[in-house]
This record gives sequence, structure tokens and C-alpha cells, in this order.
Amino acid sequence: MSDARPALDSFLEEDRKFPPPKEFADSAHCADDRLHQAADADIEGYWEAWARELDWFEPWTRVLEWTPPHAKWFVGGKLNVAYNCIDRHLDGARRNKAALIWEGEPGDTRTYTYWDLHREVSKFANVLKSLGVEKGDRVAIYLPMVPEAAIAMLACARVGAPHSVVFGGFSPDSLADRINDAEAKLLITADGGFRRGSVIQLKANADEAVERCPSIEHVVVVRRGAGASQLVGAHMHQGRDLWWHELMEEADAHCPAEPMDAEDLLYILYTSGTTGKPKGVVHSTGGYLTQVYATTKLVFDLKEDDVYWCTADVGWVTGHSYIVYGPLANGATCVMYEGAPDWPDRGRFWQLCEKYGVTIFYTAPTAIRAFMRWGESWVERADLSKLRLLGTVGEPINPEAWMWYHEVIGKERCPIVDTWWQTETGAIMITPLPGFTHTRPGTATHPFPGIRATILDNDGNEARGGYLAITHPWPSMLRTIWGDDERYRRTYWSRWEGRGIYFPGDGAKRDPDGYLWILGRVDDVLNVAGHRIGTAEVESALVSHPEVAEAAVVGKHHEVKGQAIAAFVTLKESAEIHDTLVEDLQDHVRDKIGSIAKPEAVIFTAELPKTRSGKIMRRLLKDIAEGRAVGDTTTLADPAVIHRLKEKYEGEEG
Ligand code: PRX
Repeated sequence: MSDARPALDSFLEEDRKFPPPKEFADSAHCADDRLHQAADADIEGYWEAWARELDWFEPWTRVLEWTPPHAKWFVGGKLNVAYNCIDRHLDGARRNKAALIWEGEPGDTRTYTYWDLHREVSKFANVLKSLGVEKGDRVAIYLPMVPEAAIAMLACARVGAPHSVVFGGFSPDSLADRINDAEAKLLITADGGFRRGSVIQLKANADEAVERCPSIEHVVVVRRGAGASQLVGAHMHQGRDLWWHELMEEADAHCPAEPMDAEDLLYILYTSGTTGKPKGVVHSTGGYLTQVYATTKLVFDLKEDDVYWCTADVGWVTGHSYIVYGPLANGATCVMYEGAPDWPDRGRFWQLCEKYGVTIFYTAPTAIRAFMRWGESWVERADLSKLRLLGTVGEPINPEAWMWYHEVIGKERCPIVDTWWQTETGAIMITPLPGFTHTRPGTATHPFPGIRATILDNDGNEARGGYLAITHPWPSMLRTIWGDDERYRRTYWSRWEGRGIYFPGDGAKRDPDGYLWILGRVDDVLNVAGHRIGTAEVESALVSHPEVAEAAVVGKHHEVKGQAIAAFVTLKESAEIHDTLVEDLQDHVRDKIGSIAKPEAVIFTAELPKTRSGKIMRRLLKDIAEGRAVGDTTTLADPAVIHRLKEKYEGEEG
């Protein structure tokens, strides 16, 4: 559990507490422990009450059916997610309320009211149908942060076709693997998108991927229009590729929402695990929507006139749950921004907050650390007086970053919600309630009402420090891994065999006041700038390079990204070493996976430290990469390896 060190140190020192500001608590949705009590007394009744706040076509007959490790929530109930996110807001004043306020990186803007969204989503749902997409068919979405991403997701939900959104930063190979695993019938992409002033060639990547994807029948291409004319002119494959705007011209604006079973699939989202193959996390309809709805409302204390901005990309689960489904199910106004936080300058986020009057702002610790480095002057130029609540997600937040967020962005006035959850959990699990919880820098505090989380040791006994464990099923839990239920059982439910306890893969500690401190991953999964990357994925990308014999990848502490990737590489005897080999390997990983997985350091070594049974000892490599004294080497087959390696690494670093 070496990843735990920085947070553990702060945990020992940290005793500051911040009660909710009185004016905040006075008007908060939840300012006491009544919901915790209700959930403790009757967990199913509690979740049922939340589900009743959604619109159902048919009621459920049973709240929970639990045959570990498979749960069914709201059994027999019928609903549609798009209907809940759009149609039900059309009767009253929300009809003309802004649902999405979008700004492109070059500065072009578009606003969609709920009424607009209803029209666009219905039309695109009809486009899907006209292209032969039926209930149950999978649709891949590979788009930049443009409104069409949300529209496409909601249109899929409307017709009952599960989507698989692939982050636009992923390579053609990664895209193809995901399309093939889900056997998607249709791909939705764009001619490009903007990032730091340059154009990301999504269509070219998509073309390369689709060559290897026999299941794809059509590719729908969004033209990233106004303000981006240089993008127009992507090469269109006759018969296969179709322009979004042309299809939309013809489409009918009436499309009834398909009644879906509560347990029908809403989407698949791929995430990294401990093997080279990403896992297709499967999310359902009724339970998922219930928990994203409930958490958005309570954790962000969402009110009718809030302007809510979550800075994540829709390609990650945060974008699914807290840009699209949770906020829209609540009838919120959401800001969506296409580009980088430092384009054209480092004040862009704060200018956006001022321009749109953002009241709730949700981002990642890595972004906060970057803002800290860039300095307060960028923040001071903008009027942030509308902000009333701040959130973070994605990795443990170090107390220094938390305090900076509190003082410089929140002006000591805005509660901070540090929210722990995962792609697999679908929705927030451990978090302060901003009107009730006394927050403490660096801790996600307590489970959300209705979530049972604790800390267990290896044998499954309650412990102050050990593994985070979820001891009761929750509505938005993943249902399985697409096409691999065995992996689902093994990965999440086998640590405490037979007890129906979910293992998220994180280490945790409880402080003397009972607060939960999440200390980071205990498996071979890295968290680089809030993105999950499996060491095995990067290793298999490296060994696919013709000069590489073997590779071991570890995370090393990084001031802004939290972790950076260090790769220890053994070359083939025949390998030709040349000046640009490090760069070649870095580019190779970028091309194979995407730039988020590019190793920051590549260290060549004649041998890797292995146990007598041949297992690479990553723990020791991590010690070397982080410049620490090397830990226990007694189980190494040849302890001299590690000392040779350490000397070499220190020589290169120095
Ligand atoms: O290690 C935890 C960390 O991010 C992992 C989940 O990553 P992913 O599925 O990509 O989802 C990220 C967005 C929900 C977790 O296993 N993590 C996430 N949030 C926190 C966190 N670690 C500490 N504190 C958090 N608030």
C-alpha cells in the first residue's frame, strides 16, 4: 500500500474541521442526520423513496433482489432515462430553462433549453432508428466535449440502445478494442475537436479504428461547425459515413421514449483493471438513475436556480453521472466546456465561472494543483462571487490543495465536497453532505446515506486501517463486466469470499473522529491526473514495441498529476539503442493507448527485480522511481539486481 504514504502523513497531522457556514446550512436540502437515520432503519425503504422522485411508466414490485454478487433494484419497474432527464421537465417553467450552456474552446457558444434538448434528442433518436439501431444494440460514441455528446447519449437512452462512450483522447487501437468488445453497430464521432488551440483528429482516428471493427455499419460524423471552419472536409466513406447535420435535417422531432426495464442496460463504460484488457463496466437503468439523481441533489445541494459546472469529460464516468444524467434528471442548468483550462490563458475556467454565473463547481484535485501552481492572480481577475459550493473527485486530495481551493476559490465561504466513488459504483458513495458534515481537508468523510462502507483487514475483520469495503448492495452498482461475469466475481467479490462484500481496490483509514480517509489504490492500477490506468496495459503496449523484451510499470509521485508513469524496460539483445529510443517508446505507448498513458520516465535495465517464482517486484521499482531507500528485498531471486538498478537510476536522475 505504498501509494498511501502522502495521504497517510497528512491524516496523522490533520485536525482542522470546517462546519457548514450557517447561511448555507439554513437553506440546504439536508442539514441534519435524518436521512442517515432513515437509511439505517430501512435501507430499502429509503432508496425506494428516492426512486419515487423519478417518473416511472410502471411501478416496481420489489425494491431489491440480492443474490450475491448480483443485485436487481426496483424489480419489474419500467422507466426511461431520457424521459426522466428531459420530458418530465417540459410541463412547467423548466421547459424554457437552460439545460446545457456550452462553450467551445475557440469561444463559440450554444445554449439548449429543456425544450431544445427534447427536440434534438428526439430527432437523433429517430436518426438512430433510421440507421437500424434497435433496443439492446450498442452504440459507440467518440466525441469531443460538444453538446452532441450529451444529445447522442440521451438519444441512445431514449431508444434503449446502450452506449459506450470512449474518451476522445484514446488512440485508434483503444477505440477499436472497445468497439469490438461491445460489438457496437454504430459509431458517432466528429471531424475534430479543440484542445489547447489545436485540432484533435478524431475522424482520422475513427477511420483507422473502424477498419478493424466488423460490427460497425455506419459512422455518424458531427461537424464541429461555427468557429472551427478549418475542420470541415473530413474524408467521408461513401455508404458508411453520414453527416450528423444532414441526418438531423430530415429527422422527425417526435419519438416516444422506449419503456425500459429497471434492470435493462443503460451503458457500458470501459475502465482499466489489473490486466491488459480494459473492463466493460455495465450500468443499469432504474438503480443507476435513482442514485445519480439522489446524490446530485444532496451532495451538490442542487436548487432550481443553480448554475452547475462539472469540468470532467463525458468520456469518463464523472461526465456520464454528473454532467449528463444526474444534473438533467434534477432539471439543472449545466455548463459544458470543450477545451483546456489554460487556453487561451490560465484564467479560462474562472472567466467561464464569471461569465455564466456558476454557483456549483466540481473538478479534480489534479486540476486544483495545477491552478495552485499557476498562481492566484489568474483567479483574482474573475468575479467568483456567485460560487456557493465546490467539489472534487478522482483521487485523494492533499490538504494543501484542499485549503487552497477553500481559501482562493471558495473565499472561505463555500463548503467543499470531496466525493469518493468509481466507474463501477456509478455514483457518489462517500462524501460530505454540505449542509450537515463538518468537512476536514483530505477526507471524503462519511458514506452517503444508504451506502454501507467500512474498513476491513485481509481476513474480513473491522479495522482502523486496511481495505475499503462496501458491505451492502447499492442502486447504481455495476451489474457485471460486459461479456465476463467471471471477472466481475473475481475482481470485486472474492476478497472476502462468500460474504457478498464489494472490494473497490482502495486502501483506507479511519481517524479517531470516525472520518474515512481514502488512501489510493492497493492494486496495480495507477491514478494519473485522476485517470485510471492499468500498469499491465502500459506494459503490454511497451512489449509490443519491436525492441522491447520486458517491461515493468510503476506510478511515481507527481506534484500535479498525483502519479506519473515510470517504465523500467529491458531491451532485446538484438535491440539497437539510439538517441531517440526513449521518445520512440513514449510515442509508441501514446499511439497504442492514448497520451494519458505516456510514461514520463523510461529507464533501461538489463534485468528486472523478480521473486523466485518470477513475479516482478513493483514495490521495489516504485521505491527506486521515487528515490526512497529500497524496501525489503529478501524475497528477490537475485537481490543484487535491485542495487544495480538503483545505482543506474540515480546515476541517470543525477
Ligand atoms: O482510487 C479511487 C480514486 O479513483 C478511483 C476510481 O477511478 P475511476 O473509476 O476512474 O473514477 C473516477 C471518478 C469517480 C478510486 O478507486 N478516487 C476517486 N475519487 C476519490 C478517489 N480517491 C480518493 N478520494 C476521492 N474523492
